[in-house]
Amino acid sequence: MKALVLAGGKGTRLRPLSSTMAKHLIPIANKPILFYALDQIAETGIADIGIVISPETGESIKEAVGGGSNWGVQITYILQPEPLGLAHAVKTAQEFLGDSLFLMFLGDNLIKGSITQFVEEFNRHRPDALILLKEVGDPRCFGVAELDNLGQITHLEEKPKQPRSNLAVIGIYLFSSAVHQSIAQLKPSWRGELEITDAIQGLITSGQRVQGHILEDWWIDTGNKDDLLEANQVLLDALLKRDIKGKVDSQSQVIGMVEVRQGAEVENSTLRGPLSIAEGCQIKNSVIGPYTSIGKETIVEASSVERSVVLENCRIHDIGQLEDSVIGRGAQITMSGDKYKAVGLFLGDDAKAEL
Ligand code: DAU
Repeated sequence: MKALVLAGGKGTRLRPLSSTMAKHLIPIANKPILFYALDQIAETGIADIGIVISPETGESIKEAVGGGSNWGVQITYILQPEPLGLAHAVKTAQEFLGDSLFLMFLGDNLIKGSITQFVEEFNRHRPDALILLKEVGDPRCFGVAELDNLGQITHLEEKPKQPRSNLAVIGIYLFSSAVHQSIAQLKPSWRGELEITDAIQGLITSGQRVQGHILEDWWIDTGNKDDLLEANQVLLDALLKRDIKGKVDSQSQVIGMVEVRQGAEVENSTLRGPLSIAEGCQIKNSVIGPYTSIGKETIVEASSVERSVVLENCRIHDIGQLEDSVIGRGAQITMSGDKYKAVGLFLGDDAKAEL
């Protein structure tokens, strides 16, 4: 079996951050989103992985992921010249996929736990497709599925105005090669894309077996700032262990699950877990956490940062309370006025904010 990870597209919903970096490389709990998918795929034993990339961000993804040796897998990059839809991405990858069974993973989706059981379920029952689903409050921004009482999907629709169920299609699918014939019949949807949802509906219409599996655990499609913050919170909670490799002076207090990576220095500060401080950070006279990730080489002085994701090489000075914020690489934030005001920000790379 092979795997296909979709990391192309434009990422417009995560602007301004995604204007200058691949949304798939935004770190959550100080690890790029895409790496969680690669960890989970490698854990299933699939060793032949194709990654669909775009002309805009493909090189940065190649640089971050490399040839796959960090995961013990072989990675093939597949350039999709334009983001013409998920089914178009599969079409573009057809030479790589050949006639193989394959797992498709949307590279901006995160799920907690392992996906091995779904690969095993697919191999055991060998339907033409197995689609992971999740009950959600508002399914209108997802593919929506209807299931019969045997767990077979009877109907699928992409982003319906009037959803027929609350079961969202999440970004993990298993396919046999039958999906390629279905994709070959597709016409672009109202949003101009070749939709994988329509290809799966095509399989159902032509009498093929499409199984659904409802995920009990946590899943998130990292579409906006609040999703990133929620993902950061859940993954810090789930994955973090107390691990202090950097220097923390005796004037500082460390409470709960806190990670301070190699080369980071903490002086006269309070660290409240769950919290991750990456390599080479300097934290002085500050209160950090809970639910915060500080990217490498970032400097925080005389500030309080809570429930936020701060990327690498930022400078944060004299901020009374920075909360619920996502801060792009190399951003500089200082406050000259009222020091005790709480601020929430979503800043792109190299932004400068004087508050
Ligand atoms: O997140 C789950 C949803 O993902 C499903 O419920 C929908 O049925 C499915 O169509 C998809 O919808 P989105 O609108 O969220 O897809 P998005 O455009 O965000 O793309 C998902 C991933 O695929 C993302 O990592 C970018 C990549 N992509 C996207 C397109 C359109 C490509 O690699 N190539 C593309 O052409």
